[in-house]
Amino acid sequence: MMQSSEMQANGRRWRWLQNPCLVSPSLMCADLLRLGEDIKALEVAGADALHVDVMDGHYVDNLALGYDLLKQVRDATHLPIDVHLMVEHPESCIERVLAAGADLCIIHSETTRTPLRLLRTIHATGAAAGIAINPATTVESIELLLPLVQMVLVMTVEPGFAGQRLVGFTLEKIEQLAALRASKSMQFTIGVDGAVSQEVVSNAASCGATFFVGGTSGVFLGDGTDFTTAIKGLKQAAKQR
Ligand code: DX5
Ligand code: ZN
Repeated sequence: MMQSSEMQANGRRWRWLQNPCLVSPSLMCADLLRLGEDIKALEVAGADALHVDVMDGHYVDNLALGYDLLKQVRDATHLPIDVHLMVEHPESCIERVLAAGADLCIIHSETTRTPLRLLRTIHATGAAAGIAINPATTVESIELLLPLVQMVLVMTVEPGFAGQRLVGFTLEKIEQLAALRASKSMQFTIGVDGAVSQEVVSNAASCGATFFVGGTSGVFLGDGTDFTTAIKGLKQAAKQR
């Protein structure tokens, strides 16, 4: 497999993504008026990363988390930050996002005409690069990019809003990605985002996913469950695959 010099140089920095089970709570689901407290509590509770959703109101019908908040999150935690860019023309914001502090930057392939250049820009700063695929986006459509990314984030709901119901057929794409990865000796991590409950973690893990974005279905349960119990529950579910 051909690797760019940036990819070879950054291999060690991206090794955290190879962990067999990573839970990344989605900060758009946190108490935004007490975000610093929630971040500390998530660290103590065993979160492996923090997921920051950036939305522009065009690619998705929602507005969320921008550069200044991202900078503050960067200053507030030692955890890796994965930034999920749900924006049209990510080229226009990628430099600022990377400068604000992203360890992993995930783009949607439909949002750019020059994905290779974008992936190179991400890698040039030392960050890992990921591609998110919507429920109706096929694995085939991103197949040529797979050797160049460190993560494929399989959206198990339409992007844009927390609290939606799982789109069941998306789990088959995890199996498809895992099979492709094995057949071509690739190394990207497979993540899932959207409606990630314990049941979904268990099913997704058995298909080959190891990175789980925890939103209202998995971490911010709103029923009094504390973060430690919620995150532990997701990690146990991943083992019971
Ligand atoms: C959806 C976001 C997710 C969201 C998922 O577009 O990317 O990060 O928070 O959380 P759930 O579906 O569990 O509420
Ligand atoms: Zn997300």
